Amino acid sequence: MIFFFSATGNSLYVAKQLSDKPVSIPQVIGQNELVFEDETIGIVCPVFGHEMPPMVKEFVERAKFKTDYFYVLLTYGNRHGGAAELADGLLKKIGIQAAYINTVLMADNFLPAFDMEEQAGLDKNVDGQIEAIKKDIAQRKVMIQPATEADRAAHQEFLARSSAAPADRWKGIYRITEDCVGCGICSKVCPMGLYYVEHGKAAYHTDGCQSCMACVHSCPKKAIQLTIPERNPQARYRNKNIALPEIVEANERKNIPDNG
Ligand SMILES: Cc1cc2nc3c(=O)[nH]c(=O)nc-3n(C[C@H](O)[C@H](O)[C@H](O)COP(=O)(O)O)c2cc1C
Repeated sequence: MIFFFSATGNSLYVAKQLSDKPVSIPQVIGQNELVFEDETIGIVCPVFGHEMPPMVKEFVERAKFKTDYFYVLLTYGNRHGGAAELADGLLKKIGIQAAYINTVLMADNFLPAFDMEEQAGLDKNVDGQIEAIKKDIAQRKVMIQPATEADRAAHQEFLARSSAAPADRWKGIYRITEDCVGCGICSKVCPMGLYYVEHGKAAYHTDGCQSCMACVHSCPKKAIQLTIPERNPQARYRNKNIALPEIVEANERKNIPDNG
């Protein structure tokens, strides 16, 4: 059994290489009871600031996993900052002993820092990394990817920078431009169901935003822009092996009656 969270398809692609039917975390997080039992249970998600996204943290905190082999794969684009060690620390705190935690270097979808045209063109040997991980998991390897001192320093520096910034810096990070045609795709790819269409234009609630940027990357008109500078406001990203309907199927929150 594999669970995933994915804004632009990288983590979904990895999850699909390991299971025919990976389970989307946004589709199950609303359930009252989160008890799962299988021989092997895995989680695949991106790192945000070297850590698991807030929804994934909530999921592992609330769920009960009955398995002999629990693993986590963290996709990232540039610097994992000791993400495996950080995830292991969080899991241990909530009583989960992971057998295996590893990272997968993929395209970096963080728009303030990277140009998506460039990222989409880079060869990061993703399939080679996945093959090696598949072998590890098949052999039930026990390993938490070690963090280096440089990784730990990078994370500490990130934390210091974040704590100096206003706590609500991600609130209202998205701006809907006049190119919006009200197609509502943003409302279908937001894993929190925060978007809605009003008077023919997209609008969104800010509370609970995961800052995953699925909305920005998926907008067919590039009508959702960041309110902070972007490297290339005209370049958007989705993993080349994943179709938009798959992101919709994974993230659309049909169970939220008033969309937020
Ligand atoms: C808000 C945010 C924060 C991110 N933080 C990091 C990071 O700390 N290090 C890194 O290497 N990549 C970072 N990334 C890039 C993603 O982890 C990476 O592109 C991931 O593979 C995206 O997965 P997805 O396509 O399944 O959403 C960040 C992306 C976003 C949107």
